Parts: sequence; structure tokens; C-alpha cells
Amino acid sequence: MTRVLSGVQPTGNLHLGNYLGAIKNWVAMQEIHDCLYCIVDLHAITVPQNPGHLRNATRETAAAYIACGIDPKKSAIFHQSAVAEHSELAWILSTMTPLGWLNRMTQFKEKAGKHKDNSCLGLYSYPVLMAADILIYKATHVPVGEDQKQHLELARDIAGAFNRQYNQEYFPLPEPLILGDATRVMSLRDGTKKMSKSEESDNSRINLTDSPELIAKKIRKAKSDAEMGLSYDEKNRPEAANLINIYSAITGEKKKSITAKYAESGFAPFKRDLAEIVSEHLAPISSEINKLQADPAYLDSILKDGVEKARAIASANIKEIKDIIGFLTA
Ligand code: ADP
Ligand code: TRP
Repeated sequence: MTRVLSGVQPTGNLHLGNYLGAIKNWVAMQEIHDCLYCIVDLHAITVPQNPGHLRNATRETAAAYIACGIDPKKSAIFHQSAVAEHSELAWILSTMTPLGWLNRMTQFKEKAGKHKDNSCLGLYSYPVLMAADILIYKATHVPVGEDQKQHLELARDIAGAFNRQYNQEYFPLPEPLILGDATRVMSLRDGTKKMSKSEESDNSRINLTDSPELIAKKIRKAKSDAEMGLSYDEKNRPEAANLINIYSAITGEKKKSITAKYAESGFAPFKRDLAEIVSEHLAPISSEINKLQADPAYLDSILKDGVEKARAIASANIKEIKDIIGFLTA
């Protein structure tokens, strides 16, 4: 059996990076695999969150999943904190994770920055909880953006450590699925930094609920370079490459054919067309998010169903895991 699990943190507006790097790829998987799509609120609180914002962002993320094409009848849509087995398994796995493995995690280094000693333990052990999210369902495939590759490798290592310690192939080693033409969407203000919810400037990202006018403005103002004509050169022209990747990911058109079209005309007409393409693609998603958000009771009922589906799998697995470890099951 193949099982897919992935998640997004409810920490604010979802953006084009979350969509093209992750959620867009989740949709087709519903037809082939058993799918669980989690809203990782326990991960969100590794940086302080306002309780009201967290509640809203959790519902908004559920709305965005549905608006992007995740069908609650086919997939479980649920919030992580409601399935206690994630936290339970995270503790167990933390006892098998050498500190040396965690010390290599670049996301922690970036997030903690120079203030390592003041960072909380949760930010440091964040990837262990992520491994638990996946392994508690014995998920086989994990569709994510490029930035999560290292965490996925760690999840595989942790699964292997458990299997070795208890001398059985209990956990499948989860496969990362990093798909599409925009696995790492970059900031519109700096082609060397990834587009992120936590970046201060809203102009650095396109949110799924931005209006067509705002999208056009952000793309018009997006950093470009002084070269004439469009060409794809990730190293020397990262901003142009990023916009071409976005164009290609949304239209399915090959990069070569895109650059050929704008080789003479340069940035201005390209940006105008790109703004139109992005707006048109996001318009139905954005209006569906707004519609769903106006009905929190409906969203809560979807989450409740999702939690039930997820819990049924997680509670059966945690029983097996506890038995393997030697915890009394009575
Ligand atoms: P953010 O970094 O914006 O807070 P999350 O950490 O919640 O977003 O990421 C959720 C999913 O979106 C992950 O699968 C992640 O790899 C993907 N993702 C996030 N940012 C980008 C990006 N800029 N490009 C491609 N995928 C991304
Ligand atoms: N760490 C991921 C991110 O920041 C979110 C996440 C948490 C996740 N648990 C997961 C992704 C399990 C895939 C599977 O993007």
C-alpha cells in the first residue's frame, strides 16, 4: 500500500511557493494513493503565535487545501494537534536521534540565526516531530518543496534507526517527492532567498488570496536585472529564472519556448503576461478560499472528519509501536 502525507504550517497567508512547491502536487495523488494532508499547528508554535491568529490561520489553511483541489471525501484534512499520537511518537523518536544529526539541519541554523542559546528546544527538535508526522501513519511518499529535502532525509534516517534498534522493518523509509517546475520559488525581492510566509515584506511573495491588481503590482515591481531580453540562467540571472519557473509551472510551457518568446522583448511584456497568467490561475482559488472562510462551521466539520480518519490509523500504529518497544499495553 502507498500512503502520502504532507503538511503546511498555519502561520499566515499561503503563497505561490507553498502552492507550486507542495499543494498543487498533492491534488493528483489523491487518485492513486491514500492521502493525509495535515495542518501542522504544533510546528507553528515553535515561534510564538497569537491564539486568535492561529485559530484563523488553521481554518484558512484548511480552506486553501480545499480550494486548491484537495477533496475532503478522498483525503484526510486535519490539524496535527488533534491527533496526540504525533507528539507521543515524536518523544519516542527523539530518544533515537543523535544530536549530531540535528546539528546539521540548515533550517534550524537559519531560523535560530545568531541566537542559538535563546532558541527553544522545539525549534531544534522540529524535524523529529516532522518525522513522527510521517511515520505515525507509515507514510511511503511525502510531496514537499525543495527546502524540506534535508528534513525528509532525516526522517528516513530516524525510521532506519528505529528499525535497526528493534531489529525489524517496521517503518517504511518515506520517499520525498519534489515535483514540478517550481520546487523552490524565490522571493520577488531577492532571487537568492526562498519565498516565505515569514519574510517581512509582503511584496516578496504572492499570496493565494491577493487581488489581480496586487499581483500585477508585485510582479511589475519584482526585482529584475539590466540585461536586455529574457534568458534562463539560474546563477547569473536568478530573478529572471525564478519568474520563468513560475510561468512554466503554471502554464506547463517549456522554459526554452518561454525564453524564445521574450528573447527580444525583455522584462516588461513578460511581466505583464506573467501577471495575467498568475492572476487567472489564482482567481478561482482565491474566491473559493474566501467563500469557505466565511463558513467556519463547515471547515471545522471537515477537520473533525479528517481527525477521525487520521486518528484511526495513528492509534492502531502507536499500539504496535509501544508493544515493539516493550511498553505494557494494558
Ligand atoms: P513557509 O516556509 O512559507 O513558512 P511552510 O514551511 O509551511 O512554508 O511550507 C509548506 C510547504 O510548502 C513545504 O512542502 C515547503 O517545502 C513548501 N514551500 C514553502 N516555501 C516554498 C517555496 N518558496 N518554494 C517551493 N516550495 C515551498
Ligand atoms: N516542516 C514542513 C515545512 O516547514 C512542514 C511539515 C511538518 C511537513 N510536518 C510535515 C511536511 C510532514 C511534510 C511532512 O514546510
